[in-house]
Amino acid sequence: MTSPIRFLMCSPHHYDVDYVINPWMEGNVHRSSKQRAQEQWQNLYQIIASRAAVDLVKPQPGWPDMVFTANAGLILGDQVVLSRFLHPERQGEEPFFKQWFEAQGNTVYTLPADLPFEGAGDALLDREGRWLWAGYGFRTELDSHALVAQWLNVEVLSLHLMDERFYHLDTCFCPLTGGYLLYYPPAFDAYSNRLIELRVPAEKRIPIDEPDAINFACNAVNIDRTVIMNQASDDLKGRLAAVGFEVVETPLTEFLKAGGAAKCLTLRVTEPVHPEPTGESGILARTVTMTGHLLDAGLVNRALDLIVEGGGSFQVLKFDLGEQRQSTSTAEIRVSAPGQEVMDEIMAQLIDLGAVVLPEEQQDARLVTITQAGVAPDDFYSSTIYPTEVRVQGQWIRVQAQRMDGVIVVDQGPQGPRAICKLLRDLQVGDQVIVGYDGIRSVRSTTSRDRSQQEEFSFMGSGVSSERRVELIVEQVAWELRRLRDRGGKVAVVAGPVVIHTGGGEHLSRLIRQGYVQALLGGNAIAVHDIEQALLGTSLGVDMKQGTSVRGGHRHHLRAINTIRRCGSIANAVEQGVLTRGVLYECVKNNVPFSLAGSIRDDGPLPDTKMDLIQAQADYARLIEGCDMILMLSTMLHAIGVGNMTPSGVKMVCVDINPAVVTKLADRGSLESTGVVTDVGLFLSLLVKQLDKLTQKHVMA
Ligand SMILES: NC(=O)c1ccc[n+]([C@@H]2O[C@H](COP(=O)([O-])OP(=O)(O)OC[C@H]3O[C@@H](n4cnc5c(N)ncnc54)[C@H](O)[C@@H]3O)[C@@H](O)[C@H]2O)c1
Repeated sequence: MTSPIRFLMCSPHHYDVDYVINPWMEGNVHRSSKQRAQEQWQNLYQIIASRAAVDLVKPQPGWPDMVFTANAGLILGDQVVLSRFLHPERQGEEPFFKQWFEAQGNTVYTLPADLPFEGAGDALLDREGRWLWAGYGFRTELDSHALVAQWLNVEVLSLHLMDERFYHLDTCFCPLTGGYLLYYPPAFDAYSNRLIELRVPAEKRIPIDEPDAINFACNAVNIDRTVIMNQASDDLKGRLAAVGFEVVETPLTEFLKAGGAAKCLTLRVTEPVHPEPTGESGILARTVTMTGHLLDAGLVNRALDLIVEGGGSFQVLKFDLGEQRQSTSTAEIRVSAPGQEVMDEIMAQLIDLGAVVLPEEQQDARLVTITQAGVAPDDFYSSTIYPTEVRVQGQWIRVQAQRMDGVIVVDQGPQGPRAICKLLRDLQVGDQVIVGYDGIRSVRSTTSRDRSQQEEFSFMGSGVSSERRVELIVEQVAWELRRLRDRGGKVAVVAGPVVIHTGGGEHLSRLIRQGYVQALLGGNAIAVHDIEQALLGTSLGVDMKQGTSVRGGHRHHLRAINTIRRCGSIANAVEQGVLTRGVLYECVKNNVPFSLAGSIRDDGPLPDTKMDLIQAQADYARLIEGCDMILMLSTMLHAIGVGNMTPSGVKMVCVDINPAVVTKLADRGSLESTGVVTDVGLFLSLLVKQLDKLTQKHVMA
């Protein structure tokens, strides 16, 4: 055969599934038939050899996967980047492939020992040679792409692999003659799919479905208008035929047991060199440092996970482990990302974790002027619950009114630049808002092992309690409530109607009466049911003493609403002697401010319920300002609303019968939040008892 196209293959003489390094190998160790493998390989060889030239590399005993020559390296012209295998099981193939490449007169580049790159298994040239598609995520490290781009002088487009069944790019992606692309989109993350769509026009993309993907239809050898593969559905064959490709099927089932098929068994050694090479990779890198209790607080793991999950890659440049229990550790991490968008997303999350950009890479925060009221630029920085500083005119300044999901606005105050969190809707034309992640750092306590804090909040480690721990937690909440009351602290309670249905109303009333609560937040329902109980002895028509339904009781809550409406407000009802007990009564009597935020479910509503939600949110924010502790009692809606507007540092206790609600609220990554999965009525009764005990002890002492 005199075709200018050449392939490298390796006889399966020593081939077997000897180990498990991908999901296809699982359950297949030593289960492949030597004879069938030989026959299948021979058939593939014949098909290719009738269309192109085939070179052979000598198989070596002990290296069964050498048959998959696609992973020998990546060749372009006479330049080769030799593979650096991730798994030791394949690393022994490297010198044999190197020898072969050198014997052909190629220049061979080798990557650093700890930078895996698995050759043409993870790097596929566009068939016109315009760029190189390179995969990462399982076997190949993103940072290797930059070196490949430089050595081979080719533009590299990095694609993030997401499905471990498609662990190499060539298992789910196959560029074809004429700019066509056969691929399995779910194998890639959203960013990579966008990149593919940007580079390959819709009419040239041939996405395949899972059944074809798991038959390795993308692991195909393309020679001009022929596509050679293990198997394809009639539909796929039809779609390929429609754009001028002939599919040649040749069973390769014995190799599928090791996670490879036609493409894996070949390496194309004559790749088209583009006349105008670029040598770009588009890969960006930033270096961040993290300081604190990195290992025991799990911060480093989280940081590294989020980099990889976000489509980036990392190198830990330095890690100084604190030697003493109290000492902190420092890590210096180099973050790589395939593009600006991915880098921005990763950096924003790292900053939330307390990562700081190296001083030499620090810049002022980027400011953009608002041109439409209430609308921010797309890349605005969205604030978190953590204290944050921003760099303006070379100075780091603390952001005021810190809250989650806000926008940071910078202006000139009398004493210099100021930064403040604003809600999107409050943005004014002319406001300067921060975009991107430059010049932003979140301030995390590096002394979370501080002794006093540890004693006070030994129970408060972020997490969800089991029923068995409830009593212990109640003791500690009681102790904290007592301490806060004694020192004039501020506690807010966010409560739902379940508090009343479960008989917790009398306990909450008592907490208010005894000065443990400084603000009450809720919706229409807590007030309606509390007032229904106070006026009529029922909650949702159920007699609270007997626990039985009262005839006509289902209308009681409407009667309660009607009564308050007649009075004009809850406070008026108290003043007029209509409302004489209950949670809201205690609030009015003890000057504890309350705010009732409306919802679509509300009956009535009560005249006090704020149906203007913007006003209600502002009211909530005002009431929780300066809070030391917030008790969230069985209201998912209002508790989550409050959680979102509370800065870190405020202790939050969330009580709910549903573990999912508790987890959502407790999992703010903050040391100060805890969840209690239990009945709220029971919780309140235990809490009141515990406070009584503390009072008795105090009196006796
Ligand atoms: N008649 C009315 O006007 C009326 C009636 C009901 C609700 N609403 C309104 O609807 C909105 C949502 O109401 P919501 O906050 O009650 O509902 P929600 O679903 O947001 O929260 C109720 C929470 O209580 C938990 N829960 C249930 N039983 C519990 C128990 N025994 N112990 C502990 N937790 C328990 C649930 O798991 C849930 O998370 C509010 O604004 C409310 O005012 C109005």
